[in-house]
Amino acid sequence: MKGREKLCAKLSSTFLRKWWFVVAVSVGCIFFGIIVVIFFSSWVKLVINHELVLRDGSQTFTWWAKPPVVPTIKVYIYNVTNADEFLNNGSKPVVDELGPYVYVEKWERKNLTFHDNGTVSYNLEKIYHFDESQSAGSQDDVVVVPNIPMLSATSQSKHAARFLRLAMASIMDILKIKPFVEVTVGQLLWGYEDPLLKLAKDVVPKEQKLPYEEFGLMYKKNGTSPDIVTVFTGANDITKYGLIQNVNGRSNLSHYTSDECNSMEASDGSIFPPHMNKNTTLYIYDKDLCRRLPLIYQKEVTGSNDVPGFRFSPPKSVFADMDEMPDNACFCPQGPPCAPSGFFNVSLCQYDSPILLSFPHFYLANDSYRTALDGISPADPEKHTFFMDIQPVMGVAMKAKARIQINLAVSQVIDIKQVATFPDIIFPIMWFEEGLDSLPEEMTGLMKLATTVPPVARTVIAACLFVVGAILLIIAVWRLVRGANRLSSLHLAPGHVGTPAKATLYVCRQRTFFLDIVCDNY
Ligand SMILES: *[C@@H]1O[C@H](CO)[C@@H](O)[C@H](O)[C@H]1NC(C)=O
Ligand SMILES: *[C@@H]1O[C@H](CO)[C@@H](O)[C@H](O)[C@H]1NC(C)=O
Ligand SMILES: *[C@@H]1O[C@H](CO)[C@@H](O)[C@H](O)[C@H]1NC(C)=O
Ligand SMILES: *[C@@H]1O[C@H](CO)[C@@H](O)[C@H](O)[C@H]1NC(C)=O
Ligand SMILES: *[C@@H]1O[C@H](CO)[C@@H](O)[C@H](O)[C@H]1NC(C)=O
Ligand SMILES: *[C@@H]1O[C@H](CO)[C@@H](O)[C@H](O)[C@H]1NC(C)=O
Ligand SMILES: *[C@@H]1O[C@H](CO)[C@@H](O)[C@H](O)[C@H]1NC(C)=O
Ligand SMILES: *[C@@H]1O[C@H](CO)[C@@H](O)[C@H](O)[C@H]1NC(C)=O
Ligand SMILES: *[C@@H]1O[C@H](CO)[C@@H](O)[C@H](O)[C@H]1NC(C)=O
Repeated sequence: MKGREKLCAKLSSTFLRKWWFVVAVSVGCIFFGIIVVIFFSSWVKLVINHELVLRDGSQTFTWWAKPPVVPTIKVYIYNVTNADEFLNNGSKPVVDELGPYVYVEKWERKNLTFHDNGTVSYNLEKIYHFDESQSAGSQDDVVVVPNIPMLSATSQSKHAARFLRLAMASIMDILKIKPFVEVTVGQLLWGYEDPLLKLAKDVVPKEQKLPYEEFGLMYKKNGTSPDIVTVFTGANDITKYGLIQNVNGRSNLSHYTSDECNSMEASDGSIFPPHMNKNTTLYIYDKDLCRRLPLIYQKEVTGSNDVPGFRFSPPKSVFADMDEMPDNACFCPQGPPCAPSGFFNVSLCQYDSPILLSFPHFYLANDSYRTALDGISPADPEKHTFFMDIQPVMGVAMKAKARIQINLAVSQVIDIKQVATFPDIIFPIMWFEEGLDSLPEEMTGLMKLATTVPPVARTVIAACLFVVGAILLIIAVWRLVRGANRLSSLHLAPGHVGTPAKATLYVCRQRTFFLDIVCDNY
């Protein structure tokens, strides 16, 4: 009798211990499920960050160093069709927007050098090839545009001594320099010999010398840039991933009056710090822009291969004047007068030429600048805004249309007879769109994987853990409750029930929990 009871107790307690173990496992599952829900995104973030870091030999590095993309630059030129009437009869200038003239670009980062402090330096090579098939004309099209070197020189002489202006007038007379030049599109972009620059090169003291005797809006841009750019690889601090640390050893501009405006901590437009949200302000820096340009969130977009992205554009106040945007005061170190709203003065980066940048068709500027000329249609945000579509998780630019117009701010100078009739005007020269339409399949495939799989995986894994945990828990609790009931009757049994047959029956009932079939046959 006693032996049988002991056996029964033993059986039931081992048996219960097993179910307690199952309870522990199921709670573990549920707990792990909660951990997955909370931390899965951070783990994915860590993995993505690790993969993004620019490391010699990594896939990201290869793509960054030699982008497998085909950026294009589309150039639109404002051909002046009534130059003589404008100068002689004071008519409103009439321009004809020509283009696009399309150049296909090939980029490569050359001379790559990694530094110990988590940075890498390079020289960017950009090779341009004219694409006749996409263009609306040929590079040999003849256009009439303002003579930028001449009008820069005359506008600058406005506050110089009068005899200097008269001297300038006679030199221009001898050299037959006119306020408008007739050049081909190719010459305007890639350079033509300019008599004034040639002269300046010979007579101006060495220190102030212009480095070139040719003039072109994209002169010397076809090839490897001599500027050594150092960017953060993200190895030490992923929040600086892809940001410029210095250019030619200088980490700040010096033109402006505040650190914020002088900052060059910005992306070069290809990669950005990952994991951005809709509040993030991105910055891009370009030497010819003469500053970094802020970009703010606009809307959600879907890129090629259904990769989700955010569209970023400069805020509407980006080129606003001081009255509208007091923060922009630092960009006008010598003002007032400062550039009007909608324009950005880059003369400090352009050898003091009075060049103002704006958006195409004077988008965001007072309409009076556009209507000062005939032939420019009203700005259309679709065609004339500047935007970039960026994959927010990985910080990769998927699509971009960087659109900028180049204008010359001409000042009337009465003493120089060639330009005496040229009024104060902001004269548009051309605008361009540097664009990227899509990334290659190999890149978007990986981006899609990295952005769409983790949320699904998180849900599936967490759901599985919860379901398995819950099922196990329910079974175990049920068994335990039933087991506890049986056990209490078993413990009660010996006192009241004397026959071994009944005790055997109890044992058997206990055993049925795991030996149903055996028991059935008992
Ligand atoms: C530009 O305008 C001039 C007249 O001012 C004209 O001779 C020339 O053909 C125009 N160029 C093109 C490409 O239309
Ligand atoms: C200027 O206007 C006069 C008359 O209004 C006209 O005869 C002359 O041809 C115009 N000059 C030019 C260069 O168009
Ligand atoms: C490569 O980099 C080194 C130092 O970083 C520099 O001296 C050299 O001029 C660069 N070469 C080219 C082709 O830019
Ligand atoms: C990292 O090292 C490079 C080369 O030595 C140097 O130009 C750069 O200023 C350094 N950057 C930082 C953040 O220390
Ligand atoms: C740019 O340079 C390459 C050779 O380096 C040349 O083939 C190409 O025609 C040039 N592009 C232009 C627009 O001059
Ligand atoms: C650049 O600006 C930062 C603050 O924005 C300042 O701490 C740093 O000293 C500046 N560097 C130089 C070289 O002017
Ligand atoms: C963005 O900014 C708004 C207002 O400043 C704030 O309510 C929101 O939580 C921010 N969102 C993120 C993702 O930081
Ligand atoms: C542009 O900046 C230069 C240098 O700061 C200044 O001399 C010039 O007046 C400015 N031009 C305009 C239109 O504000
Ligand atoms: C545009 O400029 C004109 C004249 O300069 C001025 O009267 C008008 O108020 C300006 N419009 C806006 C929207 O600022």
